[in-house]
Order: sequence, then structure tokens, then C-alpha cells
Amino acid sequence: MIITNSLGSNYSSADLTLAIKLLFQPWKWLKGKETSLLEQTLLAKFVKFRPAEAGRNNDVSIRLFLKGRQAIYEALKILKIGQGDEVIVQAFTCVAVVQPILDLGAIPIYVDVGPKNLNPSLAQIKKSVSPKTKALILQHTLGYLNRENDQIVNWCRNHKIIVIQDLAHALGAEARWLDDYDGYDDNNLLHHPNTLNTLNHPICPDAIILSFSQDKVIDGVSGGALISSLKSHRQSFQSINQLINWSKINITKSLFYPLLTSTIRQTYNIGLGKIIHFVGKELDLLPSSLDAPDKLTSLPNALAALILNQLSKLEKIIVHRRNIALIYDHVIYKRLKLIIALDIKNGSNLRYPVWVGNRDELEKKLTKHGFYLMDHWYDAPVSPKWVDNSRVKYRLGSCRNAENLSLHILNLPTHINIDQNKAKILAELINKYSKRTNYIIKYHKGLAFLQ
Ligand SMILES: Cc1ncc(COP(=O)(O)O)c(C=O)c1O
Repeated sequence: MIITNSLGSNYSSADLTLAIKLLFQPWKWLKGKETSLLEQTLLAKFVKFRPAEAGRNNDVSIRLFLKGRQAIYEALKILKIGQGDEVIVQAFTCVAVVQPILDLGAIPIYVDVGPKNLNPSLAQIKKSVSPKTKALILQHTLGYLNRENDQIVNWCRNHKIIVIQDLAHALGAEARWLDDYDGYDDNNLLHHPNTLNTLNHPICPDAIILSFSQDKVIDGVSGGALISSLKSHRQSFQSINQLINWSKINITKSLFYPLLTSTIRQTYNIGLGKIIHFVGKELDLLPSSLDAPDKLTSLPNALAALILNQLSKLEKIIVHRRNIALIYDHVIYKRLKLIIALDIKNGSNLRYPVWVGNRDELEKKLTKHGFYLMDHWYDAPVSPKWVDNSRVKYRLGSCRNAENLSLHILNLPTHINIDQNKAKILAELINKYSKRTNYIIKYHKGLAFLQ
């Protein structure tokens, strides 16, 4: 079996069995009890909190979509963001985050990430704010929480900028930000994660989006959610109850996806997997994570069932990911690291990032050992790299740290199909084959960037 970052690596045998069962139960595909159960589970698991805050109601609403990007679109639409409004988003992101902003006629304003950092600082965000700024989409890349989250949320609140927390990568991360950190007992953490409530934090965002699409922490092949406590959201949720249904052919493809990808990974080494992969792509049987319908689409009940099944194992999944990331942290040379142990302990560890000088060459060498890690989050400031920068209003050279990072980042897998032994072997191979880069940190207008 080969190890990849994507290609259905999140599915366990229980997920495969469920997908097969669902294939024979088409009456459950569109509507069913799993959808409302998923809504209730998400609300109960992640939103049980909330001390009363002035001007805010403690009621929280949830709406499920086919894609996380549709949840972003919906959040922006309900906030009445439109023509000419500015929405701050970090460079080193996916086009799926930016597209909803463009679809509404608003303007994405890109803020650079810190030097050798996955996320932006408050100082960088402040420089991107203008009188037209309406909202900030705060992404926690690869599941590593922005270290200045609280300060950013507070500052935005004081400046009437709505914060949409993009937890597409960070489901299951802990809301224990740096300020709260009082020293963890490692053993306790590894075996008994106590607070996995991403939203259980005194500083609540205005809206939260989640993604359950391919290769996310919880992977139901496709899925997204918008959770909001804003009064306007709740009212709009009630009035717009007409989402389109996804076609049965697409649902069939999605239910086949876990089976097909698992077969590909298992038979890749003997050549069969390569053929199935090729044929699957040619016949359009392997949906790309970038494909999405134009119209807002409801989450099919069959995918809600897949998501629920994984969600019930979230704590186990998170502990596994943390343990694998801690092995990388322990073995990998310091000069290659992008994150620290505290990020690992706070984060969901969707993928463990390293910074290497010879990514292409290294990847080729790793394939000889059964590690296929060519899928980088992200390979461009607005990923994937074939995206036309002018279409997404990104000016080349404007976010140099993000551009640098996208050339050097390599993602290491933490999913359930890599065990501790393989992770150690991979970490040692990275140490052996990777080359360092020479760079210096420069300062321009008070902000740091790599050169
Ligand atoms: C940070 C981030 N947010 C949101 C999304 C959108 O998620 P979805 O693919 O479910 O639309 C993505 C896509 O990968 C993402 O990387």
C-alpha cells in the first residue's frame, strides 16, 4: 500500500463498508435522518458553550451544504457583502476560499503570512484594512491555529469587521491559544484529549465554516457547514430553505470514491492502481476536490451518513494525528520545521508541514520508498498553481512570504492510514534527502519577509 496525502487516505474499513451499504440504499441518498442527526451532533459537540455577550444572542444556527465554499458564500451573502466591498483573506489559500468573494462582486484583499509561518499576524492584517473592509476570513492552515487568533478577533470586533472563522482544516483543534497555555501533561494529552471543542472559547467568532470534503480531518467525500450566532443569519436561514439537490449520478460517484481510491492505493505498487487511477480519471469517476456546482446545494443524506460515522471517531482521529505529528516533530531536523510542538498540541494536524530546498527532487526519492507526497497545500498563494492570478485579483510579488512558502512546503501525512513506524521512516528519509535553503529575513514598512 502506498502512502499519499490525498487519494482517499482518510477512510477506514468501517467507512468503506458504510459506503458499500449506502450504494444499495438509494432511498437514503437525498433525505434521511442522518442529516438532522449531523446538525444536532455538530451543534452539541462544538457549540455547547457561549457565555452571554452584549448584543449577541446565544442561539446558534447551523446549515449544511455540499461544499465548505458554499458555506463561505452563504455567510458573505447573509452579511450583505457585495459589489466593491473588501474581504480580507490570507494568501497561501485555496481558490475555493476566494471564489465566493468574487462571485458576490466583492474584492479579496490578500494579506501575507509571516516569514516561514502558515498564517498572518494581526500587524499584517491591520495594514490590509481600509474603509471598505467588511469581513475577514480567518483560516487556520493545515489545522494549526493562528497564534494571534484572540487578538485578531478582538481587534476586528472593535473595528466592526466581521470575522468568519474558516475551520475547514481545523475541525477538532483545541481552543487553547498561547495565552491560555499552562503546560500540558503529554501523557494526559495523548490518551485523554479533554477539550476538543474548537468553538468552546470565550471569544466567539461571528460565523464559522467547516468542510468535510476530500482530505479534510473528517472526510465525507464532500460537505460543508455554516454555524453562526448572528441574528441576521438565523433569520436568513429560515427564509432561504430552497437548496438544490445533487444529482443521483454524482452521489453514486461519491459513494464509489472511497472504494476506488482505496483499491488504487493498495494496488499501485503492482501497477494495477495506476491503471485504475488513469481510467477513473478518464471516465470522470474520481471527482476532483475543486469541482463544485454553481448553485447552492444541500448536503445529500448519504454523505451526511459518511460524515457522522467519522465524526463519532473524531477524538481518536485527532489523537492519532497528534501522535504522528509529534513523531515528525521529534525526529525531523529543526532547520526543516515550520511549526512548534505547541502548534501540534493545539492543532488538528491535518498535515504536518516542513520547509525544504529541493522539493521536486526529494519527492521523487520518496516515491521509491512508497511515499507519494506531490499534493501540496498549497502550491501557490492562491492554489492550485494553474489558477489565473489576475482573475482572483492576486498581484504577483504582493505576498512574498506566501509565494516563498508555496515553493518550499512539503506536507507529511498524519491520517489514519499512516502508522507511527512509517512516520518515523518518513521523517528519517526527509532528514537524509532534504536540502536547506539560504534566506535572510528583511523588514519593509515594519513587516518581516524572507529573501
Ligand atoms: C482553507 C479552506 N477553506 C475552505 C475550503 C473549501 O472547502 P470545500 O472544498 O469543502 O469547498 C478549502 C478547500 O480545500 C480550504 O482549503
